[in-house]
Amino acid sequence: MKIQMVDLESQYKRIQLSIDEAILSVIKNTQFINGPQVSLFAGNLADYLGGTNVIPCANGTDALQIALMALDLQPGDEVIVPSFTYVATAEVIGLLKLVPVMVDVDPDTFNITAELIEPAITTRTKAIVPVHLFGQCADLEKIMKLAEKHNLFVIEDTAQALGAELIFSDGSRKAAGTIGHIGCTSFFPSKNLGCYGDGGAIFTSDSDLASKIRMIANHGQDKKYSHKYIGVNSRLDTLQAAILDIKLKHLNEYIAARQAVAVVYDERLTSVEGLKIPCRSRLSTHVFHQYTLCIANGERDRLKDYLGSAGIPSMVYYPIPLNQQEAFRSIGRITGTLEITKKLCGSVLSLPMHTEMDPSQQQYIIDKIVSFFAAN
Ligand SMILES: Cc1ncc(COP(=O)(O)O)c(C=O)c1O
Repeated sequence: MKIQMVDLESQYKRIQLSIDEAILSVIKNTQFINGPQVSLFAGNLADYLGGTNVIPCANGTDALQIALMALDLQPGDEVIVPSFTYVATAEVIGLLKLVPVMVDVDPDTFNITAELIEPAITTRTKAIVPVHLFGQCADLEKIMKLAEKHNLFVIEDTAQALGAELIFSDGSRKAAGTIGHIGCTSFFPSKNLGCYGDGGAIFTSDSDLASKIRMIANHGQDKKYSHKYIGVNSRLDTLQAAILDIKLKHLNEYIAARQAVAVVYDERLTSVEGLKIPCRSRLSTHVFHQYTLCIANGERDRLKDYLGSAGIPSMVYYPIPLNQQEAFRSIGRITGTLEITKKLCGSVLSLPMHTEMDPSQQQYIIDKIVSFFAAN
């Protein structure tokens, strides 16, 4: 059997009956746009997250764009983002003629921290977009305190961490995406809660902001043909909502399966010299959207090729720091040297990680990694 980064087919087969039934019922009902499954799913996701407003939309990139549009920012206002993230986080900032200000990340968690953010704050700074990269929360407790001090909005990019929980210093917990003023997520198929196409959602506990976001996602309408804001057309398809509502019931099981895969990787890889296994933050649970190693001594690309020739896929998330991307050269601003981001782009390697991992395949992957380093 072929080893895959993500095995969506096997995952589908386990729930095939209920998924097929749900898809068929949407087709028969023909309410493809804003059918009842959309609000049903939004309500169930809100409950899962511990109570918030959930506004579904077309994808995670739109979610971030709509969130920013709802904050009345002015061209030239600055928004702080990590330099080590997927392009979508910063792209929407540029699209709205705002200035993405890129800050470096912590070398262990791969996330931005309050300490790294503070020196980047200026009088033009209006918002921070922390990303919970690879499935683990950034230190939102401290970031929220910093934001309060400087009167900034916080938009959590929770695309990779739905289901993770921030652990506060008093031991209490809150779902990723519900701690900042707004949370954004993606239901891209390979995400921890993925649909069978594109999908996304925006979270906020502020009901005024929620109704504004709802309007912006729907052409800025407060009622039909009455347009209060310039908006966009960004909807979650009824079909996708029906699929997501079924998969949501399995989300905790999916997370547990990913965590179990991570434990097996950890057990054998922790003692391998030349690589670093993912850190487990004290401040967050880890839902392992990715299992990402750091490979020392410039050996990352050689290991990737070696695994590839043994039939093992692996991925580099992300190979180029955002600040080095041509698209951001004229619009972005950087703070500090962004040395850690540069180092990570040259050393990270994500291994196959999904809910259907075959134990013998995983041992084969581990054996190959161990033998690569033993031969060096
Ligand atoms: C961190 C992060 N932000 C935003 C997005 C954008 O989500 P989408 O692909 O649904 O637009 C992604 C998706 O890959 C992501 O990983």
